[in-house]
Amino acid sequence: MISDAILFGMLIGKVRNTVSSLYRFDSFRNRKKEKARLIKQGNILLKHEAQLMQDMGMFDKFAHAEQIIDIGCGFGQFAIWLSKKFPSVSRVIGVDPSEFMIQQSEAKDSPKVTMVCSDGLKFLESLPSGKTDIVCLRFVINHIPSRLWNRWLIAVKRCLKPGGIIYLTLADANYYKTSPELPLMDIMFEHKKLLREKNGGIWNTPSVIGRHLNIAGYNHLVQQSVCLTTEDMGMHNYAVSIGDQFIWGIEDSWKKTGELTKRLLLDASKDANFWGQVKIGIHVGEKS
Ligand SMILES: C[S@@+](CC[C@H](N)C(=O)[O-])C[C@H]1O[C@@H](n2cnc3c(N)ncnc32)[C@H](O)[C@@H]1O
Repeated sequence: MISDAILFGMLIGKVRNTVSSLYRFDSFRNRKKEKARLIKQGNILLKHEAQLMQDMGMFDKFAHAEQIIDIGCGFGQFAIWLSKKFPSVSRVIGVDPSEFMIQQSEAKDSPKVTMVCSDGLKFLESLPSGKTDIVCLRFVINHIPSRLWNRWLIAVKRCLKPGGIIYLTLADANYYKTSPELPLMDIMFEHKKLLREKNGGIWNTPSVIGRHLNIAGYNHLVQQSVCLTTEDMGMHNYAVSIGDQFIWGIEDSWKKTGELTKRLLLDASKDANFWGQVKIGIHVGEKS
């Protein structure tokens, strides 16, 4: 016989074990660690992203913007960077549903940056139409269930000025490869893929985002990506950044496997011959 208390415990446990593809910062067990990972990864990526932006001729578009909105801005790293890089921009609004991230952001020292704690879609749908030049979504839409994508993309389009752009940064999930090959890492990514798809997400967002932008009515779609290697990122940085992905977003029953994979990756990265790659890309669409 199972007592009511045990049954209740099992139900609570089941709820806790349910893994969503959505990224909820406030549910991290170690928020300090995740903050450090995001900031460090952000600093590495931003350098390469800036080069991509320049190669794509995007600097001019940003420099002439009046209002830029960064949805899912996290700690506001990109919003702060934008306000410094393009001093002619009047206002950068960072939006994130995580209270912790908004409170811990360093945007207080950036007079042109305003941080708002809100769900991105709700925020976009409450904005006046046609008043924003650029809406950025960096590593965000990949965490949103795909059934909502069209609503998100339409909500962005509505608040853009004619000629305004949506700017997305995304990582290509198929490019996490190392030498020597680490089969457990492939298995973990396969597990993450299944979980994300089970929760209504899309695994390899970059390969399908263009089609969704087109359906939502964006024009002049452009995308460009860069493959970063351990030579660009540093071997330890690479291993920590990729390895940490295995200890979150994975269901509890796989936690130990995730920790083991991270350890194997860290160990492998100590070998002078270790090599690994990631690929990030920028996707831009314009409102006519
Ligand atoms: C992987 S992080 C990326 C953070 C930041 N854009 C960056 O590039 O470092 C994903 C971000 O999306 C935010 N997010 C998740 N669901 C969201 C939603 N419904 N609306 C707005 N932001 C959301 C999270 O709180 C988190 O800050």
